[in-house]
Amino acid sequence: MKVDLLLGLQWGDEGKGKIVDVLAPKYDIIARFQGGPNAGHTIEFDGKKFVLHLIPSGIFDPKTENIIGNGVIIDPYILMGEINGLRAKGIDPAKNMMISKKAHLILPTHRMLDAAYEQSKGKNKIGSTLKGIGPTYTDKVARIGMRTMDMFADDFKKKYVALRQKHMDIAKSYGFDPSTLMLDKMPLQAYEEAWMNAVEELKEIPFIDSEYYINEALAEGKKVLAEGAQGTLLDVDFGSYPFVTSSNTTAAGLCSGLGIAPSKVGRVFGIVKAYCTRVGSGPFPTELFDDDGQKLRDVGHEYGSTTGRPRRCGWLDMPALNYSVMLNGVTDLIITKPDVLNDFDDVKVCTSYKLEDIETKQFQPCNNNAVPVLTNIKGWKSDLGKADEYEELPYAFQEYIRFIEEQTKVKVSIVSVGPDRSETIVR
Ligand code: GDP
Ligand code: IMO
Ligand code: MG
Repeated sequence: MKVDLLLGLQWGDEGKGKIVDVLAPKYDIIARFQGGPNAGHTIEFDGKKFVLHLIPSGIFDPKTENIIGNGVIIDPYILMGEINGLRAKGIDPAKNMMISKKAHLILPTHRMLDAAYEQSKGKNKIGSTLKGIGPTYTDKVARIGMRTMDMFADDFKKKYVALRQKHMDIAKSYGFDPSTLMLDKMPLQAYEEAWMNAVEELKEIPFIDSEYYINEALAEGKKVLAEGAQGTLLDVDFGSYPFVTSSNTTAAGLCSGLGIAPSKVGRVFGIVKAYCTRVGSGPFPTELFDDDGQKLRDVGHEYGSTTGRPRRCGWLDMPALNYSVMLNGVTDLIITKPDVLNDFDDVKVCTSYKLEDIETKQFQPCNNNAVPVLTNIKGWKSDLGKADEYEELPYAFQEYIRFIEEQTKVKVSIVSVGPDRSETIVR
């Protein structure tokens, strides 16, 4: 068997969590391969709403095993909070979740450094979620990080204290005062104590060599779906650098983040919102600053799942989408949130950019001055949520899907028409 991959094709928040939850019953294993608690994946069913940060979105299907892979970075305090939050609602993730021994740990002082770096950037700040993502991946690559397997070693505390001291020295060199820091409403020291307690509590979850576990499962004929976090345009190599996250959010991240060979990758599901959103700073060519932008934000409830910040909103961007399709080798497109456009007379789509005196269809991840050339598409002006089958969707909407398919040369396999699990049309 091969691993199927599901990832976001924009700047995150495309609806990955919802779709993974919908697909989970078809898979034996759901595995996260990169990112950390910067992610916020929302799932709704039976009138209940959950937001997951580190736990894979297959957790609500009791038959599915959920793996946090080696490429993910973990804050034990946040993960335990998530586990206990689910337990309070009658779901025990300890029953069907495992964690890679090689996943790196986010220390409280990694979060402190995130704050120190952002503060030092002033107006040029990235708009990080401040979960310690950049500093933790930095230590991983610098070969001084700590991994989950270290939690079980005799010298855990010694290693922790030494790394913490390094972080304190760096913060000092940035002129950052740790006594001003609040982490999840706690001063640093209180957070560190809570973090240490969480390390002990987390040991009840099985820690495994997930690369062996997953490859052996594939050899036994089991079905595995890898769940991406963030989006392609936030990739550390291909995104709008430096306004990106610190991992490879693209298909490449799957191989290193789970130990999957390229020859073992099957279908690649690319999720795209029917318009664009972005949280944090960085170029966004189709961004709207007018009433249409506010309407997208209001109707689409575009406020961050992790930080609550208002998301920047704009029209769908074809050069960006084609770039993401190319980088990931997308085999199936999944469109989410077209219902947010139900009430628009016209829907606009960017098909190229004007750059001084040339026009180009190439995405410009780092260019703040690309002027989008927009095409008008007639709105469907009806409630998409009423349809159960693809054929029941209004003709004007089907035309819009055909337009996307023509532009990308990829079939749209799933259309999501509302946040609930049931509001999903599989073609
Ligand atoms: P993720 O990070 O990619 O999992 O996406 P988020 O959960 O951060 O943001 C997507 C938001 O849109 C969540 O609030 C979802 O409940 C919601 N959502 C997902 N699909 C749809 C859809 O088709 N229509 C509407 N209206 N909302 C959706
Ligand atoms: P999901 O998985 C949207 C953005 C942040 C910031 C930049 C760097 O829910 O789609 P970081 O905390 O990684 O240092 O932030 O990346 N960002 C996201 N935006 N969805 C996410 O995850 C994001 N994770 C990080 O807003 O601009
Ligand atoms: Mg999100």
